[in-house]
Amino acid sequence: MTENAQRRTTSGGDQFTGKAVDRVDGPRKVTGTAHYAYEIAEGPLPAYGYILGAAIAKGRILEIDAELAERAPGVLYVMTHLNAPRQPEFGPAVTPAVREVFTRARPVLRGDDVHYYDQPVGLVVAETLEAARAAAALIKIRYQETVGDFGLEEHLAAAYAPKRTNAGFETDSAVGDFETAFAEAEVRIDVSYRTPYQHHNPMEPHATLAIWQGDDVTIHTSAQTLSNFRAGLAATLGVPVERVRVVSRYIGGGFGSKLIVHADSVFAALAARILKRPVKITLTRQQMFANAGHRAEMLQQVRLGARADGRLVALGHDVWSATARVEEFCEQTAVFARSLYAASNRLTRHRLVPVDLNRGEWMRSPGEAPGMLALECAMDELAERLDLDPIELRIRNEPDQDPERRVPFSTRNLVACMQEGARRFGWGRRSPEPGRLREGRKLVGMGMAAAIRPNYIGAAAAWVRIDAAGQVTARLDMTDIGTGTYTILTQIAADTLGVPLAAVTIELGDSRFPLTAGSGGSWGAASAGTALLRACEALKEKILAAARVHGALVRNAADVSMAAGAVRFGNRAEDLKDVLRRVAPKGLDARGSVEAGAGTEAYQAFSQHSHGAHFAEVSVDCDTGEIRARRLLAVIDAGRILNRKTARSQILGGMTWGLGAALMEKTVLDGRYGRFVNHDLAEYHIPVNGDVPDLDVVFLEENDDKANPLGAKGLGELGVCGAGAAIANAVYNATGVRVREFPLTLDKLLPDLPAFIL
Ligand code: MOS
Repeated sequence: MTENAQRRTTSGGDQFTGKAVDRVDGPRKVTGTAHYAYEIAEGPLPAYGYILGAAIAKGRILEIDAELAERAPGVLYVMTHLNAPRQPEFGPAVTPAVREVFTRARPVLRGDDVHYYDQPVGLVVAETLEAARAAAALIKIRYQETVGDFGLEEHLAAAYAPKRTNAGFETDSAVGDFETAFAEAEVRIDVSYRTPYQHHNPMEPHATLAIWQGDDVTIHTSAQTLSNFRAGLAATLGVPVERVRVVSRYIGGGFGSKLIVHADSVFAALAARILKRPVKITLTRQQMFANAGHRAEMLQQVRLGARADGRLVALGHDVWSATARVEEFCEQTAVFARSLYAASNRLTRHRLVPVDLNRGEWMRSPGEAPGMLALECAMDELAERLDLDPIELRIRNEPDQDPERRVPFSTRNLVACMQEGARRFGWGRRSPEPGRLREGRKLVGMGMAAAIRPNYIGAAAAWVRIDAAGQVTARLDMTDIGTGTYTILTQIAADTLGVPLAAVTIELGDSRFPLTAGSGGSWGAASAGTALLRACEALKEKILAAARVHGALVRNAADVSMAAGAVRFGNRAEDLKDVLRRVAPKGLDARGSVEAGAGTEAYQAFSQHSHGAHFAEVSVDCDTGEIRARRLLAVIDAGRILNRKTARSQILGGMTWGLGAALMEKTVLDGRYGRFVNHDLAEYHIPVNGDVPDLDVVFLEENDDKANPLGAKGLGELGVCGAGAAIANAVYNATGVRVREFPLTLDKLLPDLPAFIL
């Protein structure tokens, strides 16, 4: 990679950007001085709320008796639908505009109807959480229960085509004549894959402290995108947006579950207004499974038609997904398939089946995470049928432009990622024939998959100030959800202004600061980073302009420049602090911004994606069917890497997530009651340290100058994309048993483990 070729650098020269700089918030995190929403001690002593959830999935509340709860010790207030403050309507089940899903009113306790199990039906506020929780158990509710629909496959006949998918993509796409080309193809693969309900489980649960002062409310909460959250909460409370301040300085993970307003914030704000006292509410881990979104159950059919030489002639990807009847959410599961491989006849479709559950939400790598499990395993099936190496099959179908949009890729290093990965992983040692490699009672296999994820950029602004002592402060309503945003923004500011890291203070997570797109969709670093880069460039110009006015020694204004903590006047350098004291004793400030990518010329003219390749080696115990991942490697092309350490951590987390999706994660739905059964971290299995093997990440770095001035592309979610498929393909290579229902647990593998090993 020509890392330095025409790279647009942060202007002070890159002393920090790209390096493995330690997290600037690390000391605060490990000393417990980074306070999360539920820990904030601000304003008068708070009261504590506890949310009571419905015991049925569908029906009506006939009677609710809260008298005992109201008289219980320490109880200050009980809210039910009978006395809930007036709130706006929830609105239509299908949101009219893409953005409206984030900013619409989300009222609580609006009526006596129940739409999903554990839907909030009451709130108790007391002097302590324990008192509130104990009192909630005293509320008596009589329900009229109706039969709900919960399973996807029993109700496929009810499937419908939504108007669009999440993020505003077309529901269907068609190029050429898929059906004819598929029917006439020399080699055909027609396979269906199943993926289960899954839940994101950020370590920090959803939590809110609401403090009213007159008509203004401050909401300390755990939110990824403050401007959307603020608009949604203001709409719910029926107050002007200016009256709501949202603060999220530290966030213990989000993964998409903290993009919209949830019940903790609405209840806390309503109750605090009534009690004229701050109120704190958190969702319990169990409540998060019903009240903070999930990834829906899906059925995917992949149809691949190829010539004998491996060239695809027909590529079809159909998705059926469950969706809440109460509010539609269509994960863009097949959208990536529109850009990944060449084929002149193509068809992708999304269909939804309504169920009586809470709404699905965005969960880490929406679309690619489930979609690539299906397509990238189907490609592995096709490779075997063709007797082709899976990498060679993908290379033969490498498109020279975006195959559906028919515009060039901004950059695309997919083939390089696969080839570099093959070399490093020892792909040559893989047996093309499955079930061949044995170590005692263990079957060993290798698998790979491609990774792709669209690059987004969201509108963002930043404000930056330098004081006469050379201390820099920047403010954005950006959030750091644990990904390292404080750190990369510090690096960008320090490099652009030519000051040390210690001279920079980044202040995030306050809706009073300039608007950004927040954290989501892997757009955070590029969007907030570009806004800050431009703010710092503008500030630097101001410093230089002031220095030119005062720089009597220079004849030519162009001779004034700034780098490495100094201002250079012709051939004389002066310490930045001395210059500032002289030319700007009160300090200087500046703003910078970036517009949303969608609609810009670079976005229209180029297909922008991050790419990568995943490799996995697994062992399968031939007696028990136990699957162990041994080695995972990701080779990643996400444009310029801003911080090697935090970027690597993001990809490691994504690969671990892929491991969970392949082998462990599944929320079990009780089809009788519409209830998620394993709703805690003991029963919802995710990989623990002992499950995570030798992981490695390699970056093929490049500067994508079409993407943004930083040259960086979306990275965080790329690590998930394809990771699970690589593992599933390795399991097949080890055993010769193809399981098409995720997660791949030993019970699904065992019946078909080949007889020869017994
Ligand atoms: Mo991400 S699922 O867009 O927070």
